[in-house]
Amino acid sequence: MAGLNSASAISAVGLRKSYGEKLVLDGVDLEVVEGSVFALLGPNGAGKTTAVQILSTLIGADGGRVRVAGHDLAREPDAVRSVIGVTGQFSAVDGLLSGRENLRLMADLRHLGRAAGRARTAELLERFDLADAADVLVSTYSGGMRRRLDLAMTLVGDPRLIFLDEPTTGLDPRSRRTMWEIIRGLVADQGVTIFLTTQYLEEADQLADRIAVLDHGKLVAEGTAQELKRLVPGGHVQLRFADPAAFRAAVGALSHTLEDIPRDEDALTVQVPSDGRVRSLRALLDLLDAQSVEAEELSVHTPDLDDVFLALTGRPRTPANTDTDTATEKAVTR
Ligand SMILES: Nc1ncnc2c1ncn2[C@@H]1O[C@H](COP(=O)(O)OP(=O)(O)OP(=O)(O)O)[C@@H](O)[C@H]1O
Ligand SMILES: [Mg+2]
Repeated sequence: MAGLNSASAISAVGLRKSYGEKLVLDGVDLEVVEGSVFALLGPNGAGKTTAVQILSTLIGADGGRVRVAGHDLAREPDAVRSVIGVTGQFSAVDGLLSGRENLRLMADLRHLGRAAGRARTAELLERFDLADAADVLVSTYSGGMRRRLDLAMTLVGDPRLIFLDEPTTGLDPRSRRTMWEIIRGLVADQGVTIFLTTQYLEEADQLADRIAVLDHGKLVAEGTAQELKRLVPGGHVQLRFADPAAFRAAVGALSHTLEDIPRDEDALTVQVPSDGRVRSLRALLDLLDAQSVEAEELSVHTPDLDDVFLALTGRPRTPANTDTDTATEKAVTR
């Protein structure tokens, strides 16, 4: 985690970009501290890739002032290029070459020299768990292996600042965790700065020191995961009862400590504000126990970044999950 006086790896003010009539980035300000992980979070079409392409000198902006690693992006693009690495959203590896050949090619492009290139290639294959598959065609690699090779290719040039455009989209949970470990290792061991984009709130939560939420080309929030979570209503415990008598008894028991208990008489449920900790759950159950009331089911609802996105934009993260999955639900049934 970076301190207060740390230098800026990326500093952008009023970044703008349009494609024809379409305004893609509408005045975006970004500040990324050296040695930190910054996540740009947003749904499909939010403008994430466009932002990465501009910050990594691949395309020009229409407006705004940007400094990357201390260099003016517009006036010193070559100086910026020499210290950054980019892993694009879509794999850039050549399927008709082996993993080793892809890395050697990159080492040649980076003018590493024969011996150094060979050593770097071997080291990266080992580190990314690709040594066994080093000499087979990349077209036979799994998605996770391909993504690891993508990142290995980016690291050939020893960049100080790495852009990762959706590094884990399409990966299974295990491959995703492996990628997270690799990213954490880069920051912890080598002090690199990571600018990543993701559609996954959990990913931003897991990796990022700071998170910016991009929606329709505008930042709708920026802060630590904790700060963003504070923007949404607190957590609660939901209790469900087996029959109306138990439900009424519970409401009666709880009304001694709570004035207005959110409840659903048809579903026989009540919602009690809670931090979700074991101690408070036990106190709640003890309270009911003292009145001989037993809950049929208990579930803990902790606000997470999905709730943040919903609260900030008025929409769930993706059109597909309109009614479920907007929070971490942990159900316990007796
Ligand atoms: N070269 C281009 N020409 C025209 N429109 C473009 C171009 N590149 C991007 N756009 C448009 O800009 C908007 C933002 O695209 P961008 O790729 O930056 O989004 P994204 O946040 O990366 O989305 P995804 O999560 O799907 O990767 C989209 O509406 C897209 O259609
Ligand atoms: Mg994209």
